[in-house]
Amino acid sequence: TTRGFTVAIDGPAASGKGTISRAVAARFGFAHLDTGLLYRAVGAKVLEGMDPVAAARALRPGDLDGDALRTPAIAQEASKVAALPEVRAALKDFQRSFAARSGGAVLDGRDIGTVICPDAQVKLFVIADAVVRARRRFAELSEKGIETTFEEVLADVQARDARDMGRADAPLRPAVDAVTLDTSDMDIEDAVAAAVALIEAKRTALN
Ligand code: CDP
Ligand code: CDP
Repeated sequence: TTRGFTVAIDGPAASGKGTISRAVAARFGFAHLDTGLLYRAVGAKVLEGMDPVAAARALRPGDLDGDALRTPAIAQEASKVAALPEVRAALKDFQRSFAARSGGAVLDGRDIGTVICPDAQVKLFVIADAVVRARRRFAELSEKGIETTFEEVLADVQARDARDMGRADAPLRPAVDAVTLDTSDMDIEDAVAAAVALIEAKRTALN
């Protein structure tokens, strides 16, 4: 059964979490939440002059729309506000309620398997070489018409990796029961297939 089934997908910037999550959600009919968008939306409000904690507390679903949040400048600010415990606390209930949806849910981020959904049935930790990740992200942003350079994207990825792994509250790290998937030499189809196989195996075991 998929009732209350939760899939947690964590990993560093541009490792492929979102792509795998969307494919898995479509395949199993699960709801999908890209939790990075919450922090990006708060980061965007801070760049407009708002206080980060006030922005996190006032966040609305309408704030999460669009490619407007995908710029490296907003990503940087997102990772700065994400180090603030009060910001993380303000976003926790929304994520936990989303995860508890009856039809199953997949959430991707940094702390889903460790903090938000420690009881998730499936936990995946997606990694890839930083230069590979920056190349993929640069290609993606160029395709979306977001103006940036490879150097800016690589610097963003490396700075966020260090900040996200080094913070005291909910640092980026694999849960003890997470399965690590290195996508450095994998195409999207193979990465999705690996995630699907893991979920199928768990669902069979639970039935
Ligand atoms: O969500 P996250 O930041 O971890 O990464 P993503 O947005 O899913 O993936 C970043 C980019 O890498 C996207 O353009 C994907 O299509 C691409 N990608 C890839 O080329 N090969 C993979 N195995 C995974 C993702
Ligand atoms: O897509 P990408 O992996 O580049 O970034 P994202 O998932 O949109 O996350 C943006 C930033 O939000 C990250 O660098 C983290 O600092 C923060 N974040 C977090 O702290 N916890 C999460 N569950 C998700 C994102």
